[in-house]
Amino acid sequence: MRTIAFVCLLMGLVGVATPRRHSGPQTDKLPITLYYEALCPYCMEFVTTQLSPSMVRLDRLPYTNLKLIPYGNAETDDAGKVACQHGVQECELNAWHACILEHHSMAESLKLIACMMRGKKNRLDKCSDRYQIDVAEVKNCKASRQVDDILKKYGEETSKVSFLGVPAIALDNIYDANLSANLTEDFDHFFCAAYQKKFQKKLNDCE
Ligand SMILES: *[C@@H]1O[C@H](CO)[C@@H](O)[C@H](O)[C@H]1NC(C)=O
Ligand SMILES: *[C@@H]1O[C@H](CO)[C@@H](O)[C@H](O)[C@H]1NC(C)=O
Repeated sequence: MRTIAFVCLLMGLVGVATPRRHSGPQTDKLPITLYYEALCPYCMEFVTTQLSPSMVRLDRLPYTNLKLIPYGNAETDDAGKVACQHGVQECELNAWHACILEHHSMAESLKLIACMMRGKKNRLDKCSDRYQIDVAEVKNCKASRQVDDILKKYGEETSKVSFLGVPAIALDNIYDANLSANLTEDFDHFFCAAYQKKFQKKLNDCE
């Protein structure tokens, strides 16, 4: 009896000590920052057909430090009032994205946001149902705060870069218009190339 308990304890320890397949602290991560807004057609196309398939289906997420900045070409006036390029509805959706990002992991956030960006209406309920993600905290965040307040930090992040249009992508914390355009056109290809260049390591399923 005592032997069995000891063996179980040992196995438990081995289980804990076994590193996960990826995303351990020693996995090299290439920072990617996406500046976007909820209703710009190119943003919707980029997130749904490029970013999400690369991160989720091709499993790049563990190899990047991905940041989403849902603000785009919005402007904040001196009183802190935010005006979005595609109007009030876009500010609302950007704020929903921001609340998702504040309360969920990037893996869950990306699923929800990519699903929401397949349409122009608020698809949060549909998308949270589809992925069985509890979004109670997201709803509380959105209900309890002003949109201007929710978007404030994303406006501040965005004001640090001067991009030509959205989607705009910074790689390794640097925004370069040419590279951003390349990443927008063929995200996975240029992500793979940049990853290999920086870490001398070719990721799975990279051409
Ligand atoms: C992109 O690269 C080309 C060729 O190197 C250069 O002429 C052009 O100015 C660059 N464009 C931007 C937006 O950086
Ligand atoms: C963008 O892509 C073009 C065509 O593949 C390439 O010639 C150019 O060097 C790339 N620029 C950057 C900054 O990656």
